[in-house]
Amino acid sequence: MKWFGAARFIEAAPMAAEAARTADAAQPAVVFENVGKVYPGAQAKGPQAALAGVDLQVARGEVFGIIGRSGAGKSTLLRLVNGLEKPTSGTVRVNGIDVGALDERGLVALRRRTGMVFQHFNLLSAKTVHDNIALPLKIAGVPKSAIEARVNTLLDLVGLSERRNAWPARLSGGQKQRVGIARALVHEPDILLCDEATSALDPETTRAILALLRDINRRLGVTIVLITHEMEVIRDVCDTVAVIERGEVVEQGPVWRVFGDPQHEATRALLHTPGHELPDDLAQRLNSTPQAAARALFDVRFSGDTAEEPELGTLAQAFGAQGVRFVHGGIERIQGRAQGRLIVSAPVRTADEADALAESARRYASRVEVLGYV
Ligand SMILES: Nc1ncnc2c1ncn2[C@@H]1O[C@H](COP(=O)(O)OP(=O)(O)OP(=O)(O)O)[C@@H](O)[C@H]1O
Ligand SMILES: [Mg+2]
Repeated sequence: MKWFGAARFIEAAPMAAEAARTADAAQPAVVFENVGKVYPGAQAKGPQAALAGVDLQVARGEVFGIIGRSGAGKSTLLRLVNGLEKPTSGTVRVNGIDVGALDERGLVALRRRTGMVFQHFNLLSAKTVHDNIALPLKIAGVPKSAIEARVNTLLDLVGLSERRNAWPARLSGGQKQRVGIARALVHEPDILLCDEATSALDPETTRAILALLRDINRRLGVTIVLITHEMEVIRDVCDTVAVIERGEVVEQGPVWRVFGDPQHEATRALLHTPGHELPDDLAQRLNSTPQAAARALFDVRFSGDTAEEPELGTLAQAFGAQGVRFVHGGIERIQGRAQGRLIVSAPVRTADEADALAESARRYASRVEVLGYV
């Protein structure tokens, strides 16, 4: 562990110590194998399970994002990681340990390895910033001097040293969440779970909190699993993303790939990815066959699967060079990869000619389709 260089002062429970020994970098931090979860009493509402057949792996040291509609099962998934819920079927492993098989003592140890950050901060209003962070250590029986050293380090880490004696009611939302993050880190966890940690914050504060989480991930090597409904959060900080729909993981992979070329309808809906929708004026003029003096409209997609950014000159050449127009669309960068969609028009006489141009442009884009003629 790269934890601040501060000495570890909490005697790890045997289970956790075992996990720490076996938790080499190659071992995934979290593994779900065919996990199902049915809440007791939920059957009355129908056979729908909160989770069904979930397989996923969170690699050590990554930031893993979970997205999905409300009620899809995101929070349930997170609560299975720290043992707040037990799976009805299948296996959840954290640092190689089967969470479902842990006794009370094992669960306490697990929860110290997996800090949790909440949307509404969950601070104790009658305790100062310092005391909110110190409380879990006090409960764990850590000596006072060690508590002071640890709280100071954490206040420094989250940038709240000046507000150590403030009451939560006097803090901004961003400051409250910094306290929430510091408190989640008191036991030097190797996994941090965040359930909508920035959903109650304005965009600027969200960016600052995300930068802090990314910093904690990079500097301390803490694996982060975060739930969000904000796609920018995923785009800005996550390495991998899983999409949950009605209790099932319908898509997962590197963020650049899932965002650049979403395969599932649920993912497209969450990302608002346009299908073949064209701006209205173009759609109204679109013909399925070329008329006299026609231009073909091409849908050109870049999903980030090539190392190079699209080269405009080359692309224009592929479309016949003369009279090629960029009509609509744009390119963005995600995880250093260029992706997006361009609508291009080029003069053609026949549909065969349009197909040939599309074919020649396919060498320079992830996908090229003829949308029609204007
Ligand atoms: N303690 C519980 N008892 C019974 N049913 C529950 C319980 N917690 C969640 N559920 C049900 O399980 C399903 C998944 O809920 P969950 O809270 O995991 O969804 P979510 O994706 O986190 O939703 P949201 O985005 O609204 O937070 C929902 O149908 C929900 O009603
Ligand atoms: Mg939830």
